[in-house]
Amino acid sequence: MHIALTYDLKEDYLARGFAPEMAAEFDSLETINALAETIMRLGHAVTRIGNYAALADWLALGQRPDLVFNICEGEQGLGREARVPALLETVQIPFVFSDVAVLTLALHKGLSKLAVRGLGLATTDFYQVESLASLDRLIAGTVPLSFPLFVKPVAEGTSKGIDGLSRIDTADRLYQRCSELLERFRQPVLIERYLPGREFTVGIVGTGAKARVVGIMEIVFAHEDTASIYSYAAKFVDNSSWIRYQVPEPEICQTLSEAALKIWRGFGCRDGGRIDFREDEAGVLQFLEINPLAGLNPDYGDLPIICKLAGLNYDELVGAILASAIERLEEQHVLV
Ligand SMILES: Nc1ncnc2c1ncn2[C@@H]1O[C@H](COP(=O)(O)OP(=O)(O)OP(=O)(O)O)[C@@H](O)[C@H]1O
Ligand SMILES: [Mg+2]
Repeated sequence: MHIALTYDLKEDYLARGFAPEMAAEFDSLETINALAETIMRLGHAVTRIGNYAALADWLALGQRPDLVFNICEGEQGLGREARVPALLETVQIPFVFSDVAVLTLALHKGLSKLAVRGLGLATTDFYQVESLASLDRLIAGTVPLSFPLFVKPVAEGTSKGIDGLSRIDTADRLYQRCSELLERFRQPVLIERYLPGREFTVGIVGTGAKARVVGIMEIVFAHEDTASIYSYAAKFVDNSSWIRYQVPEPEICQTLSEAALKIWRGFGCRDGGRIDFREDEAGVLQFLEINPLAGLNPDYGDLPIICKLAGLNYDELVGAILASAIERLEEQHVLV
């Protein structure tokens, strides 16, 4: 099969002047090399395309692959992850991973939480503030804010905007943090209850009834409180002295699997991804967020780490993702 690989190369954005945190979600050459080499080892021909603009130029030359393996995170805006899929849907070229509607919903943590509630699963109450004026109204309002709270940009990944100070204990700090995030990320800020309990992430491969959990990992923090946040720094520096990954006990894995598959299928996610959960003060599992475009760096991507812990190597993971895409497309007679 001729597979085109679309991606946002981190180095390109750094060269354009993006600060490292702003380019954090984009993929390194290392990730793209690993992915391309694996897809070729699986017996396919790979054309490396690049980002949305490169894809548009390539298609304008009349090129047409059998399938696109798309990991573009997109640049700016709440619909950015869906931009390449939208182009591919328009020109009717099949692609790996979820469709436009799912990618747009999942990038928005507030709307995702509402959808998860609609599916009957637990996720904390939240507020969304678009401006300091809406924060003023919230603080002055009749609903009491109960600290500690957790504050993050509504639609970022890779823990952008999240650090040891994301846990908020006072109205002053809330005001300060929200203004910083509104200014820095130019998007609404999500305010929710701080969840002090254990943290898990569930890896899923497949689509619909054929979706399955490939592994679950617990992120174990060596220190409590501010250090027990899977922050931006934790995902990019050597975190081995303060974070450990482990497979949790079977009982909790069962509960997590059921919840994750219900959400995965309820959203209509396809081929592969991850769902994050954390326990509240009473030990109840709360949905945090869903990642239908999970990072695929073979060494530090959470989905590859989950698979490693479960005894599945990188080729097997990518092979299973591709197999899911090919199978569903064959079923729809899109690929013959
Ligand atoms: N309400 C909360 N209470 C406590 N910790 C939280 C809360 N929300 C997020 N966190 C911490 O911040 C981390 C990052 O949050 P979240 O998963 O929403 O961000 P992300 O940038 O989308 O992550 P990813 O890299 O998985 O895409 C979580 O893994 C968790 O450690
Ligand atoms: Mg997360």
